[in-house]
Amino acid sequence: MPNIVIVGAQWGDEGKGKVVDLLTRKVQVVARYNGGHNAGHTVIVGDKKFIVHVIPSGILHPGILCVIGNGMVVNPSAFEKEKDELEALGVEVGESLVISDRVHLILPHHYALEALSEDARGANAIGTTLRGTGPAYEDKAGRRGLTMGDLLRPDALGDKLTEARRHYETICRGSGREPEVDWDQVVAELRAFGERHGSKIKDGSLVLSQQIAQGYSILFEGAQATLLDLDHGTYPFVTSSSATAGGVAVGTGVPPSRIDGVVGVAKAYCTRVGTGPFPSEADEAGVEILRGRGNEYGATTGRPRRCGWFDAVAARYATRVNGFDSLAITKLDVLDELDEIPVCTEYRYEGQTLGEFPADLAVLGACEPVYEGLAGWKSSTSGARDWADLPEAARRYIERLSELARVQVGLVSTGPDREQTIIRAGSALASWFA
Ligand code: IMP
Repeated sequence: MPNIVIVGAQWGDEGKGKVVDLLTRKVQVVARYNGGHNAGHTVIVGDKKFIVHVIPSGILHPGILCVIGNGMVVNPSAFEKEKDELEALGVEVGESLVISDRVHLILPHHYALEALSEDARGANAIGTTLRGTGPAYEDKAGRRGLTMGDLLRPDALGDKLTEARRHYETICRGSGREPEVDWDQVVAELRAFGERHGSKIKDGSLVLSQQIAQGYSILFEGAQATLLDLDHGTYPFVTSSSATAGGVAVGTGVPPSRIDGVVGVAKAYCTRVGTGPFPSEADEAGVEILRGRGNEYGATTGRPRRCGWFDAVAARYATRVNGFDSLAITKLDVLDELDEIPVCTEYRYEGQTLGEFPADLAVLGACEPVYEGLAGWKSSTSGARDWADLPEAARRYIERLSELARVQVGLVSTGPDREQTIIRAGSALASWFA
């Protein structure tokens, strides 16, 4: 199989974990390129449920090499907790996991800084996951971050922390707070982590290029999603990394010329966690149905997700900025009981029709959705495995989403299990599965 990227087409939680898990059968390597343990990818295998946060979900398949790419940020203790939890469920996390030496660390002061920042924003808080992700990327861009590679040279750790510590203490003083971090303990814990996991810390780009040279295929597993991307999302209500397909080259050190295809993953409806505009957000009755049937609660934080209808304006935008070759539509069965399903085809703004997703949040926030009502199918699609098994109205629904989003639908997920999946014959996705 060629080297393929899996990207969320909406605001996250589209079910990327399942699609990555399915395609992992066809590759030898799975690499994550962005985010940290703010992400939560749920994969159901038989009667077991696995939630991975920083470890690529390929780890659930024995023999797959998993790479935590340089574009990620990792908190050492969260990593160890996740590793222990996976091992308790019988998943081996041994030498098949590589952590790029250029990965930046999430440290205790990042949690403190994030809480301060969210607090200071008051009503404008982003609604972050409070996992220290944003401040870790800020330290990276501020040229004061620590990397995994630094753990291989433990004697220099204290000095390397100087700038990050100075910055943190300046902010604490400015906001009248006492700094709370015990830096000696931080250094001791980082040294111990380096001793335990040093053998996993490698040049991620080199490892990946060697895999490609041997003819192996890589699946790039995106976290968060297009509309949460730092550059292309609904800024400032976004995450702090490059979640779109363009982030792969930067976040792994694999050049764009070696990336062969992009799969977008979208729910058959739409959800979002945290603050920010959401033009197709449903009314109370709609939210009740979607959240209830879709079990829309965050995998990382447990927060109830905001729910709404499929937004084709946003989907077209996601197709454009990621260059999707195929779209995977998940959770179709959540819509099974509806008489009619609204799909947002365009926005209305100050009396005008907008067909393209605006950058200006003041505009996006004032946009009214223009809905097309599509006929429901009022029967169960749960577990369907063949396109022909879907009721005609469900097929029409998917075809209409494809037309509006300007991308062919290659996969339809009809339940959480690996087997509850339809692969569309003739699609790019089907050719990669062959
Ligand atoms: P942060 O990534 O914790 O900084 O949060 C920034 C925004 O991204 C918030 O609205 C979060 O709810 C959202 N976010 C971060 N990670 C995820 C995810 O995995 N799924 C859905 N939303 C996320």
